Amino acid sequence: MTAPTPAAVEAAMRLAITAAQRVKGSTYPNPPVGAVILDPGGDVVGTGGTQRTGGPHAEVLALREAGERAAGGTAVVTLEPCNHHGRTPPCVDALLAAGVAAVVYAVADPNPVAAGGADRLRAAGVAVTAGLLAEEVAGGPLREWLHKQRTGRPHVTWKFATSIDGRSAAADGSSQWITSDAARADLHVRRAAADAIVVGTGTVFVDDPTLTARLPGGEPAERQPLRVVVGKREISPEANVLNEDSRTMVIRTRDPHEVIKALTDRTDILLEGGPTLAGAFLRAGAIDRILAYVAPILLGGPVTAVDDVGVLTIAKALRWRYDSVERIGPDLLLSLTPG
Ligand SMILES: NC(=O)c1ccc[n+]([C@@H]2O[C@H](COP(=O)([O-])OP(=O)(O)OC[C@H]3O[C@@H](n4cnc5c(N)ncnc54)[C@H](OP(=O)(O)O)[C@@H]3O)[C@@H](O)[C@H]2O)c1
Repeated sequence: MTAPTPAAVEAAMRLAITAAQRVKGSTYPNPPVGAVILDPGGDVVGTGGTQRTGGPHAEVLALREAGERAAGGTAVVTLEPCNHHGRTPPCVDALLAAGVAAVVYAVADPNPVAAGGADRLRAAGVAVTAGLLAEEVAGGPLREWLHKQRTGRPHVTWKFATSIDGRSAAADGSSQWITSDAARADLHVRRAAADAIVVGTGTVFVDDPTLTARLPGGEPAERQPLRVVVGKREISPEANVLNEDSRTMVIRTRDPHEVIKALTDRTDILLEGGPTLAGAFLRAGAIDRILAYVAPILLGGPVTAVDDVGVLTIAKALRWRYDSVERIGPDLLLSLTPG
């Protein structure tokens, strides 16, 4: 019998990350976690992602699939296994009962109530390794949940589509379909994983968007985020954003902090408003990540992606840094965090 090779363990962690991405958005208040069980020879015998609140955690699902083949094997998990009785028993108990010989996890649990899993496993003689692909996990499936644990606030991503000359709409205000089908499909996957999509009344008046998450065929995704409209003007009861496809909250304010307060029980907020609302959130320092879909087109004209952000001279520019740059069909997706 051979122990799993480091390559097999890393491949298992990548599988666990994929399992976590798949359940992202459906696990609140629990974190979206992925787990994979390797048998003593290093073969994958179980995979799981956290189920909805009160449902089994990732480790428990993966162990169920593995059955007796988990004994003497390795559990590979994106987050330190929990050590407390919440709505479900501690995952550490399940791992010990299954007789795994080793546990490898990416990120330590920052929640003091659930932490301590690694210590308990070690005390029971299990070989524990921490930190494998920690950056990928902390910047990927666990990003918004970790932000919420750290700050107590939901994580806000400002998403916009732009031409290469920084225009978010043509001179007549039309902005739908700046980017390609591929870029829009990517956005819809992100919408399905988000808790809320926020726009200003201006976008509702000009674009009349539905703001739902849709599958490539056009049909609604299984999970729909809350739609949020911000601003003082009344929107038409006929507006698409008020249709039956999802729930909608109208917040009669222009203050980004009030918007965040109203959404404080959420974790992952996607700001999809126009230049006015984006400018207001940037001035308020209320954006944690920017996702810019950049199309290889030029529009010129007056509608810039963002209005006044309070910068009058270059020395005061708001500095961000690129996290990643991806090609999506003919477009680019730039992901940035505060620099
Ligand atoms: N390319 C893209 O990604 C993208 C995305 C969305 C929209 N757009 C385009 O953007 C254009 C609409 O721009 P927009 O700026 O009007 O849209 P917006 O930012 O979504 O809505 C602006 C409205 O929000 C309200 N508001 C909320 N907070 C505010 C604040 N702090 N300060 C001022 N107003 C605040 C105001 O309405 P009240 O008077 O009701 O308070 C304001 O008129 C359209 O052409 C649309 O096609 C492009």
